Amino acid sequence: MSLAQRVALVTGASQGIGRTCALRFAKEGAAVAVAARNQEKLNELVQEITGAGGKAAAFALDVADEEQVKSGIKAAIAQFGKIDILVNNAGITRDQLVMRMKRADWDAVLQTNLTSAYLCIQNVIPSMLKQRWGRIINITSVFGQMGQAGQANYAASKAGLIGLTMAIAREVGSRNITCNAVAPGFIETAMTAVLSDELKQSAIKQIPLGRVGTPDDVASAAVFLASEEASYITGHVLNVNGGMLMG
Ligand code: NAI
Repeated sequence: MSLAQRVALVTGASQGIGRTCALRFAKEGAAVAVAARNQEKLNELVQEITGAGGKAAAFALDVADEEQVKSGIKAAIAQFGKIDILVNNAGITRDQLVMRMKRADWDAVLQTNLTSAYLCIQNVIPSMLKQRWGRIINITSVFGQMGQAGQANYAASKAGLIGLTMAIAREVGSRNITCNAVAPGFIETAMTAVLSDELKQSAIKQIPLGRVGTPDDVASAAVFLASEEASYITGHVLNVNGGMLMG
């Protein structure tokens, strides 16, 4: 599944799933534009990729900020000439029962997880339309498919991403641009490191494969959806959840 000659933009690439996606895309031969807020962490990632013989450049931006998304994507296109693959991965949680949830935490999660994807898609699509080739991959969540108590904002944002995925897939399918979602279950990253051992153990009991997932498990799905081999798949939600949710 070679991604040679492709240019990928990965948001939330400074750590976790996004970082691993960037490394895996680079390993498959893509040039990678890595985006997140932390310039220092992005620079380290770029060094790691270029040190291994790959191509990468850092674009520090806040995905919730429309102007930063616009100028960051413009700069990435100026540097690499195009964007073939967009991975909307940046995401946050602000968990609270809905009765106590602050409006600011609702807005922050919706803006960072959902509005950001709309903004990034809108800004990369002209480049994809021009070349009649594109892959858009939205990282949603099992909790956007089944809900989760204490995560009304997060679950709504991730369910919204699934609707966005299907709408975009219909809008741009005729131009040979696919839009799919990857729905991870429980993945070992900083986002889940804050959960108690007790909660982790009870989560594992709900996972038929009997283990939590790794960022590489998710990145493998993203690499596949970006590949030529996935050219007839669009509007799909690919579960990477160890069987936690089926059907
Ligand atoms: P993480 O917290 O390790 O990484 C999140 C990344 O998003 C970081 O690079 C962070 O800097 C970036 N980010 C957050 N807000 C941003 C903003 N405003 N602008 C730019 N970048 C921003 O979390 P993880 O686990 O790697 O999550 C990646 C994605 O996978 C998220 O969308 C998350 O919702 C999703 N996911 C994670 C699961 C898990 O179990 N870890 C399960 C299901 C989905």
